[in-house]
Amino acid sequence: MNRGKRLLFAAMTAALGLGLLTGTSAASPSGPPPGDPGALVVGGTPVPDGKYPFMATMQDARRGPTAYNRHRCGGSLVGPRVVLTAAHCVEGYTAETIKNVSVIVGRTQLSATQGEERAVAGFEIHDKYAADGSYDVALLFLATPITTIKPIQLVTPGTDALERPGRLVTGIGWGNMEAQPGFPGGGVVNRPDRLQEVDVPIVSNDECAVSYPDTSDRDLCAGRTGKDTCQGDSGGPLFVSLPSRNTFIQVGVVSRGQGCAAIGYPGVYAKLSNVEIGEYISPRARS
Ligand code: ARG
Repeated sequence: MNRGKRLLFAAMTAALGLGLLTGTSAASPSGPPPGDPGALVVGGTPVPDGKYPFMATMQDARRGPTAYNRHRCGGSLVGPRVVLTAAHCVEGYTAETIKNVSVIVGRTQLSATQGEERAVAGFEIHDKYAADGSYDVALLFLATPITTIKPIQLVTPGTDALERPGRLVTGIGWGNMEAQPGFPGGGVVNRPDRLQEVDVPIVSNDECAVSYPDTSDRDLCAGRTGKDTCQGDSGGPLFVSLPSRNTFIQVGVVSRGQGCAAIGYPGVYAKLSNVEIGEYISPRARS
């Protein structure tokens, strides 16, 4: 989540940073050096095992031999057979190439052996997904269901009660931890082995439009200087925690942003309370 992005993406992440975790060379799985907690995780913290069991890593076996290498995007378990991710994470896959993809749900440390891994049997992209990045949601259908992990609850379509500007919501992911000093191409890459979390304030649509004129009510913006999701976090969930009820309610999917954690440029998330997005996901999640 928060953090800047990676040089290797510079070319791909033009416009709104809709890039994927492509290059894999320089990343180091090690965490922040002792005594320097703030320098490597831009506003985020490592997640203890088991805290967010619904979290998924979308893995592409062609990327390398380890789960760390194979990580392509985040996702969330929304039904026993369904993982929600970003459309741009699966764009370009075919019925044939998707066979290289699996998901691991319930793993916190990529190099560990926790969680449930499943082959992906198929996928579906929101039919309104557009080049500008709107409707950036897709579903991965698992070959066999995951019955031991509770899916995350989704926000009710058509509501906005959880989206008061200023409310802190949580984003999680294994994406780049380096804030970009500038814009795409300006940062270095440091992807964590352990899942990271960051709390980010929701930004109103009008305020978000100051930075991103093309955002709409299909988008939810959140973030502040130094706190953001970033490349490699795409597809992962943005959610509200209700610890007293042991419940999490997903409100967004990591989609895009200009740089990462830069002043004036919050992260942009696909908004699940949008009726066209929410009502697309819900019936399929139950399938
Ligand atoms: N598109 C990125 C990915 O593929 C996520 C970018 C999120 N950027 C941000 N500033 N929040 O991983």
